[in-house]
Amino acid sequence: MPETKKVILTGDRPTGKLHIGHYAGSLKQRVTLQNSGAYDEIYIMIADAQALTDNADHPEKIRDNIMEVALDYLSIGIDPAKSSIFIQSHIAELTELSFYYMNLVTLSRLERNPTVKSEIQMRNFETSIPVGFLTYPISQAADITAFAATTVPVGADQAPMLEQTKEIVHKFNAVYGETLTEPQILLPDNQACLRLPGTDGKAKMSKSLGNCIYLSDSEETLKTKVMSMFTDPGHIRVQDPGRVEGNTVFIYLDAFSRQEHFAEYLPEYAGLDELKEHYTRGGLGDVKVKKFLLNVLLEELNPVRTLRKSYEKDMERVYEILRSGSEKAKETAAATLGKVKHAMRIDYFDDATFLSEQKAKFS
Ligand code: TRP
Repeated sequence: MPETKKVILTGDRPTGKLHIGHYAGSLKQRVTLQNSGAYDEIYIMIADAQALTDNADHPEKIRDNIMEVALDYLSIGIDPAKSSIFIQSHIAELTELSFYYMNLVTLSRLERNPTVKSEIQMRNFETSIPVGFLTYPISQAADITAFAATTVPVGADQAPMLEQTKEIVHKFNAVYGETLTEPQILLPDNQACLRLPGTDGKAKMSKSLGNCIYLSDSEETLKTKVMSMFTDPGHIRVQDPGRVEGNTVFIYLDAFSRQEHFAEYLPEYAGLDELKEHYTRGGLGDVKVKKFLLNVLLEELNPVRTLRKSYEKDMERVYEILRSGSEKAKETAAATLGKVKHAMRIDYFDDATFLSEQKAKFS
């Protein structure tokens, strides 16, 4: 099927407020893509149904975070006039698609999915894996294909999901004829953005570790978090040589600092390379580097906080944005489901040949 439209579909599980790791790893790029004007349709999904696959006992946690995530999206600059923000569970068609795709995937293939594998370990699910959880890559393939997404901007951890989706697309198209669109993953091009560590230097930013910078953090909170960031434990006195590799502050600078920031906040350095060189040589204190990072992050996050405040004052509007986004998404998914059922020839009541064939058979 020649797919000429360029469509983006992506999303996040609403298990908490979004943090700067989400922002660097995917959210920021979505806004750039949205504003590039290169895409015909953009769908941003609040993946509540997927979040329930490992939070079945705590539906209130998911419910509580729907609006948080919607506010996070809107405040970073997702524009409801250009992008449809929607709630996954509102789109029953996704569940139906998943059910048909399940027949095209083996249990062992799911068990081999690296993302699922590591999540099973993290959740101590080894001895009893909820079926819904194990099969969420199939539901994610439904999410992506329902919108005929050509481009899926996500963090690096989602690569195995895209692989599995492509396999399902190939299998479906081979068995039932060209129907589904093959998606491409789109990762941020900045390496440091791919995996931003927590403020404590731990590889993973997570709420339970308390090492996240949230998009909704106040200026004061941001300052406290930046000034207490993990650096190089061997860099004790200012004159000591320091390490920039694995140094959280420098990883954040790799992700966020730009040339203009130096001219504005640290004009005595030509750029990041020179700053790193000085730190490595010795004679540059952590506090100075942290203050610079704080300025860089404030410049990035101040507008986000301001926009968030204005949406927070108008929750009715946010609710309507979600409602209309969900309606639009439902229409698109329903159209794809129609094509899928047609390809599988199970669209009996929309298929005039069905009755005539059966009549002929029984005549
Ligand atoms: N798995 C994604 C996450 O954990 C959320 C998600 C669900 C998603 N369906 C998707 C992302 C489809 C991209 C495309 O954040």
